[in-house]
Formats: sequence, C-alpha cells, structure tokens
Amino acid sequence: MYSEVLRVRDLRVYYHTPRGPVKAVNGVSFAVGTRERFGLVGESGSGKSTIALALLRLIKPPGKIEGGEILLDDLNLLALPDEEMRKVRLAVIALVAQGAMNSLNPVLRVKDQIYDALQDHGVQLSSQEFDERVRDLLERVGLRREVATMYPHELSGGMKQRVCIAIAISLRPKLIIADEPTSALDVVVQRQVMETLEKVQQDLGASIILIGHDMGLMAQTVERLGVMYAGDLVEVASVSDIFREPLHPYTRLLIASLPSFDQKGVFRGIPGLPPSLLNRAPGCPFYPRCPQAMERCAIEEPPLREVQPKRWVACHLY
Ligand SMILES: Nc1ncnc2c1ncn2[C@@H]1O[C@H](COP(=O)(O)OP(=O)(O)O)[C@@H](O)[C@H]1O
Ligand SMILES: [Mg+2]
Repeated sequence: MYSEVLRVRDLRVYYHTPRGPVKAVNGVSFAVGTRERFGLVGESGSGKSTIALALLRLIKPPGKIEGGEILLDDLNLLALPDEEMRKVRLAVIALVAQGAMNSLNPVLRVKDQIYDALQDHGVQLSSQEFDERVRDLLERVGLRREVATMYPHELSGGMKQRVCIAIAISLRPKLIIADEPTSALDVVVQRQVMETLEKVQQDLGASIILIGHDMGLMAQTVERLGVMYAGDLVEVASVSDIFREPLHPYTRLLIASLPSFDQKGVFRGIPGLPPSLLNRAPGCPFYPRCPQAMERCAIEEPPLREVQPKRWVACHLY
C-alpha cells in the first residue's frame, strides 16, 4: 500500500533583503512516499536548498517561512515548539546539507563528530556501545572501522561525504534529505556515493529526497522527480514518465539538453536566463524563455495540477 511520509503544501519562503523580498520558494506542494526516493532537480538558485532547510526549519534570517504546511507523518512541523522540532531533526528527518563534507569539524576525529550528534540528541550509551554504534554506522556507509579515529583532513572527498551520511543516519531517521551530496566529487565517486545513499535508505526503510542539478545522475537513483524553476515546482512525475514524455516545456528542454540517458548530463543549451526572484513578474516564471508561450502565460501563473494520473504540471498547455 502506498503511504506518504511527507506532505508539503503551498510552502513559501522569502529572504527579506534591503532591495525587497526574494521569493525563493513560491508556493510549492509535493508529497514523498514511504521508502520512496524522490528527487528535486533544478538550476542553481531555483530554491532547492531553501526547501531542504525549510523542511528542517533551519531557515535563518533574513529568510522566513511565510506560509504553507509541512506534515511529516502525523507531525505538523511548522506548528511544533522549537524544542520538539530539535528532537525531530536527525531522529525523524535528517539533512546532509549542501557542502556538509566541507563543514566537518577539522579538529575532531570522526567518532567524536558522531558522538556529538548523538549527545546532542540525548542518546546515552556506554563507551563500548558507542564504539559498536560507530563501527556499525561506518560499515553501513562503506567505510573501514579505522576511519573512526581519523580527522577530516585525512579523508578523501568521498570518504568525508560518507561520514556525513553516517551522521545523518545515526538516529535512523524516516526521511533523509541529501542536498547535492555528490556535486564536489568526481564522476566515479559520485556513483559510489549515490549507491551508498540508496543502500542505507533501503537498509533503514527510510525515504529520501535527493537534491541535484544533474538530471542524468538523479535519474539513475530516484523513482520520482520534481522539477524546480525559479522558486516553483513546475513538474512532478515518475522518472520513467518524465524521460518518456516530459510535459512542461522547461522539462522538455532539460531532457533534450542531456547528451544521452545514462551519460552525465548537466543543464545547458536553454537560451535565456531564469528570472529574478526579487520583484517577480506576474504570469508563468518560464514564460520569457518558453518556446510555446501564449498570451495568457504572461498574465496568469499556472498552478501545479494533476493533468494525468500521477503527473503534476504547472503549465497552461494542459
Ligand atoms: N541568505 C540569503 N539571503 C538572500 N537571498 C538568498 C539567501 N539564501 C538564498 N537566497 C536566494 O534564494 C534563491 C534560492 O536559493 P537556493 O535555495 O540556495 O537555490 P538552489 O539550492 O536551487 O541553488 C536564490 O535566488 C538565492 O540567491
Ligand atoms: Mg543549493
């Protein structure tokens, strides 16, 4: 039976800058199934990391969650007291933040970084139990036990990212969010880290939201994709539907710009630039670049609607 672990409804996040509000996430709705691997793909600046941070309520000023609803199982996250939310983080929903591997504490051994995370959440273990837990976590992410006593500078990029994944799964969360977990790594290591993420997700029976800009790499890992454009989710569908028949003109251009299905493909070849998120124009955000734009698109922003079974698109063509 299909059940949902996460439901996001009309989420809005703005950054209040001296020049006005930057509407980084502009009314985004989606759901993630239990044990599902869901991908969020989009160009840099489209609001992906802002969504990730908002889901953990880690948006900092001048950013603010302006509205919407985030339901994680039966928890209404935006209504939780701060202290409750702190407990939910890591224990129920964990984030491997963008660039996390470069923010490991340089003066702490790997096991002490894991210790700090557990300690923060009030986990009480004897030192023997703790050593066992560290060994188990390292093994789950494909690291030798000797890594426990190493410092971040002694690790390769791929190993550091694995440590971050180990910390993220240390309390067996139901939902793991990994924000561009492989973008700093070379192609071979990228695949290996993706496989590790998939393996830990399956071992834990968790769901995952994988964030990235490399549609080809994402397609090999996730089951469903949400395509972001300028703070909006413009299309949500299974990977196979999206590749077989992309519906949104932006998604079509993205797919057409990929070299081939299983080659590494990054965004390129779409003429024009995404709009400013400051002083957003009315209408569809993709309108100025859209090859199929109609008069209506300049005036009226299309809502994300289910236009075919299990296919959501924000476009006036449908
Ligand atoms: N602290 C901030 N202050 C002002 N604007 C921000 C801040 N953080 C992000 N933004 C803006 O919000 C938008 C979305 O950013 P982000 O969520 O990081 O996108 P992505 O992860 O897709 O690259 C961008 O236009 C970015 O410039
Ligand atoms: Mg980002």
